[in-house]
Amino acid sequence: MDFKWGVSTAAYQIEGGWNEDGKGQSIWDVFANKRGLTFENHNGNIACDFYHRYTHDLAILHQLNIPNFRFSLSWSRIIPNGTGAVNPKGIDFYNRVIDFCLELGIEPWITLYHWDLPYELEKKGGWTNREVIRWFSEYVEVCVKYFGDRVKRWIILNEPMAFTGAGYFLGLHAPGRKGLYCFLAAAHHATMCQAEGGRIVRSMLTESQVGTAFSSTFVQPFFDNNRDVMATNRADALLNRLFVEPLAGLGYPVKDFKLLQRLERFIKDGDESKLAFNMDFIGLQNYTRELVTFSMLTPLLWSKFVPADKRNVEVTDMNWEVYPESIYEMLMKFSKYKSFKEIIVTESGASFPDVVINGKVNDVRRINFLDQHIKQVFRARQDGVNVNGFFTWSLTDNFEWKEGYRPKFGLVHIDFETQQRIIKDSGYWYGNFIQSYL
Ligand code: GAL
Repeated sequence: MDFKWGVSTAAYQIEGGWNEDGKGQSIWDVFANKRGLTFENHNGNIACDFYHRYTHDLAILHQLNIPNFRFSLSWSRIIPNGTGAVNPKGIDFYNRVIDFCLELGIEPWITLYHWDLPYELEKKGGWTNREVIRWFSEYVEVCVKYFGDRVKRWIILNEPMAFTGAGYFLGLHAPGRKGLYCFLAAAHHATMCQAEGGRIVRSMLTESQVGTAFSSTFVQPFFDNNRDVMATNRADALLNRLFVEPLAGLGYPVKDFKLLQRLERFIKDGDESKLAFNMDFIGLQNYTRELVTFSMLTPLLWSKFVPADKRNVEVTDMNWEVYPESIYEMLMKFSKYKSFKEIIVTESGASFPDVVINGKVNDVRRINFLDQHIKQVFRARQDGVNVNGFFTWSLTDNFEWKEGYRPKFGLVHIDFETQQRIIKDSGYWYGNFIQSYL
């Protein structure tokens, strides 16, 4: 069966080597090194030290027979100032990672942007500055020029909703900016970049497959009344449709969320047609569902989530409900967009409190989580959705953004004091499970 099994990672969460070999700073380097912004002031300066240990980690992937590896490129490792001079040592690092993947028979999948904007660009306004379209295009061209001879799968952006929402609206993620106008500017520019990035990859590489990855959350009203139904529609427009529908040629979902009309301020003549692009595949990422209720205390959105731990349901260490049907529902929803030809689940996974006993991690709950979610993916496939891949988040425990190293998402445990790796039972399980499908 030609189904793509893999794992997903991201540069800032695993690489470390934050100031080595000519790398410039990213917004995450700056954010996580300020006090009080992340769990116990954790940062990604060393992270999983993938920068020095990539051969070891890729050998684990090989040992587990996992055939696809998704990783992101650090823009500021490649172009330290975000625009202009290219850093040869950055290029060399990713060349070595790609070549080693290929040597092991592992297919590399590159994410071009997984949240770590070069800090020099943030100083000029970052995603809120329309110039970012030009900066990003230059960066994409550089990456395709250097790696396009060997990399056949490209993902333009990872979860634009997450990095614009948490980074430019709520101020919880880098660069820590807040407010509606910051958010709307960043959102429009990111939507332009996702399509423009697709066009660049397609025009430079005719043999490759290009896609982009979206977060998705199945939302349902908490109470069966009109107010909660409307609140849920607004949350759905924001979380699941804002970046998806312009790409599909449907424009922004203003009808279900009037506030989005204010995007107009950032839309220039000719933008509307440029927001659409016919990707080869869409990356769908799903972790949970949310129940939504009307809230007077949440201006603008007038909706809030009812926290999972108040609902007497099974939760992960992120306080996310374990609700496998969510991935099925979102696959069904995304499959309705006619221009989406193929869907790959580019992330799903769970953080649970692992314990190491006698050098082993018996993470039964993670195994169950993956097993149940994969079953729902195959249910959607049976129901006619063209979903052709599943990537677990993540290969190793890593730097979980604001939450630092507290949550553990890996198939492989890392002792961050010693950098020692232990393959968890879920890692062996996933490897064996994949074998039974190949
Ligand atoms: C996704 C994100 C990943 C990872 C994961 C688990 O939203 O793309 O970087 O953090 O969530 O929280």
